[in-house]
Order: sequence, then structure tokens, then C-alpha cells
Amino acid sequence: MRRALALAALGPAHGPNPRVGCVLLDPGGRTVAEGYHRGAGTPHAEAAALADARSRGVDPRGTTAVVTLEPCAHHGRTGPCADALIDAGVAAVHVAVGDPNPVATGGADRLRAAGIPVTVGLLADEGEELLRAWLHAVRAGRPYVTLKLATSLDGRVAAVDGTSRWITGARARAHAHTVRAQVDAIAVGSGTALTDDPSLTARRTDGGLFDHQPLRVVLGRRPLPDGARLRGPGGELLQLPGDDLDAALRALGDREVRHLLVEGGPTLATALLAADAVDELHAYVAPVLLGAGATAVGDLGVTTIGDAARFATEDVTRLGDDLLLVARRIAPAAGPAAPAGSAGGEIEYENGSVHTAQHGRPRRHTEEEI
Ligand SMILES: NC(=O)c1ccc[n+]([C@@H]2O[C@H](COP(=O)([O-])OP(=O)(O)OC[C@H]3O[C@@H](n4cnc5c(N)ncnc54)[C@H](OP(=O)(O)O)[C@@H]3O)[C@@H](O)[C@H]2O)c1
Repeated sequence: MRRALALAALGPAHGPNPRVGCVLLDPGGRTVAEGYHRGAGTPHAEAAALADARSRGVDPRGTTAVVTLEPCAHHGRTGPCADALIDAGVAAVHVAVGDPNPVATGGADRLRAAGIPVTVGLLADEGEELLRAWLHAVRAGRPYVTLKLATSLDGRVAAVDGTSRWITGARARAHAHTVRAQVDAIAVGSGTALTDDPSLTARRTDGGLFDHQPLRVVLGRRPLPDGARLRGPGGELLQLPGDDLDAALRALGDREVRHLLVEGGPTLATALLAADAVDELHAYVAPVLLGAGATAVGDLGVTTIGDAARFATEDVTRLGDDLLLVARRIAPAAGPAAPAGSAGGEIEYENGSVHTAQHGRPRRHTEEEI
């Protein structure tokens, strides 16, 4: 399964389909074929592994298929993978993560009905991690939202005169571009679109464009001028009113946007945080002090520390002079994927009070409960 997961990670992080890897083992446990999904419209991992077996002159009959995601049971752009495995005569199937997609689920049952034993849950945590954004989008019907903040040490995103370009250094900016190249869509509010005239393209350090360009989304009602850079080369441009953020996110989900990167500005960031719609934070922090100017996030209605919007740190990376903090929404206490270190969603503060994340927002416990 580790090898299948490594194969899956070779597939594109963006796109409507999940990253899936598949390994076929002979009865002696030796790998005889491998495959992974290279994106929508290409063969699924199981079909790729079966084709790999045939190209090597290996008969897949009697092999064990190890697949990172439950084989699908539906006719999409390709046929059902469960049927392909049944037809190929595999002897057993091991799966990391069950398919939550209502359209495609049922593959395990189909295989079992054909007399093939199936186990689900092998290295499930690693499988879920690889498919984090995709699983979230399919389960919730809206994209996984990553909010990028590029701030000074005092949390500011622009100076008093409104200038905001290059708060962070070249390495941080290059990193942000590699993230752009991995997501399905990138969004800003119309304030940023009109003030900064960004192109929102995913660019290499030499200035060239990555092959994959995310859909460019502007949330807001004010129209963009004809000459806006957003109308130039890059991904498709989509403007949506953002007053109803849930509706906007669902509209993006309907377009099969699985991972949305939001790059500001403060008004949109605040609205998304207030709506509890941010799943992951990417905070690029520069050792720069501005002392005045717009802050990354406005008033969230938090008046006491216990009500703060808290996230769980996932990773910290140094990028030249800057730091990148990746932090994730704290999953509900009983949720399937409580982040490591969050003690099942419980946070204990210095004053001894205990908070449990409920619906992603810490809920203060009464003294009796503690
Ligand atoms: N350093 C950084 O990382 C960074 C990143 C981005 C921006 N900035 C800076 O931030 C400044 C722009 O700030 P901003 O706050 O005006 O930009 P913004 O958040 O990008 O845009 C605000 C606009 O978004 C629209 N909007 C869409 N949905 C909304 C919702 N649910 N709630 C509220 N507004 C919604 C509204 O426009 P309509 O009235 O048109 O509907 C609103 O006026 C610029 O100076 C820019 O340089 C810095």
C-alpha cells in the first residue's frame, strides 16, 4: 500500500478526479504490475495496472490488487474499475480509503458479490491525507478552501498608502506559485482585483507559466475593467457575487473545483473566516514591521480569547527570510480526521480551561463539564 500511495502521488494534485495508485502482487507477494491515475480522461489506476501487467506479459489472474481508493462502480469517462478487476480474475483487493463519491461508490460490494475478498482501511490515514482536498470536496459538496495570507510580522498586508507588493521575499513568492499550480481555482475579492490588477497565474521562477493554470475567480459585484490582467493569459476567468459565500462555494463545487486557494484581500478573508469556511491557512510571514496599514484579517466578532478562531499547526517551513506556517481547521472532536496533536479536537489552555472544537470552532466548556 505504501508503494501504491507513492504511485498515487505521481498523479496531478488538481483536477476533478482523485489521485489513485494500484499495485498488483503475485501469490508470492511480489509486485508484478503498477499503475496510477494521470488525471481526468486517462485510465484509472486499476486499469493502468492491468494494462501494465498485460504489457509485461503477466496474466493478472490470481493476483492481489492493492489500491489506494475503493475501485469505482460507475461508468464515467472510463468503465467501472470493479468490473475490470473482476474480469481480470484478481483473487483479492486491499483498499486504503472507501470512495465517498455517491456516483462511484459500491465497488467493494460489487467485488465481494463476485466472490472476491476486499479489505478497506489499510493505511487509511495516509490515504486520507493524500486525498484530503478531494475527499473534503466530495463529502461536503464544496471545495477545500486554503486561505493564503502574506503578512508582515505584525500581521499587515499593506502599508498605509495601500502598497502591498513584495511584503514577502522571492522564495516565498515562488512557493506560493507552486501552490497555485496544484489547485483547481484561485480566488480574490474584487477589492484586490481592482487595486492590485493581479494576473493570478501560476508562474515558474523564470516567469514562464506552469502547464496547469487554475480557474481564476473574482468574488464581488464590481466589474473588472477591459484591460485587467485577469482578462489576459492564464486560467479561465469567473466572477461570482460573494454575498452568499456558501452559494459561491457550492457553485464552484458544481464545477468540480476540489481545491480553492483564496489570496485575499482582508475583506474576503474575514468573511470566509467568519463563515467558518477556511479549511487550511498558509501564512507567509516576513520579518518586516509596518506598524500601520491594513491587517490580514478584520473583525471576526471575537471579544474573548476563548472564542478565537484556532487552527492546528501542520507544518512550518523557512523560505529565505520568511516563514510559511501551514495550519488546518480543527476537525470536530468526533470527526474522522482530527489533526495530529489536537488531542481529538481538545485544546487545553494555560489557564487550565479545556475547549473542544465543534464544527471547526472551539466551544468553551462550562466549569462543570471540565
Ligand atoms: N499581502 C497580501 O497577501 C494581500 C493579498 C490580497 C490583497 N492585499 C491588499 O488588500 C487590499 C484590498 O483589500 P480589500 O479588503 O478591499 O480586498 P478584497 O477582500 O479582495 O475585496 C473586497 C471586496 O470583495 C467583495 N466581496 C465578495 N464577497 C464578499 C463577502 N462575502 N463579504 C465582503 N466582501 C465580499 C466585495 O466587493 P463588491 O463590492 O464588488 O461586491 C468587497 O468590497 C489591497 O491593498 C491589496 O493590495 C494584500
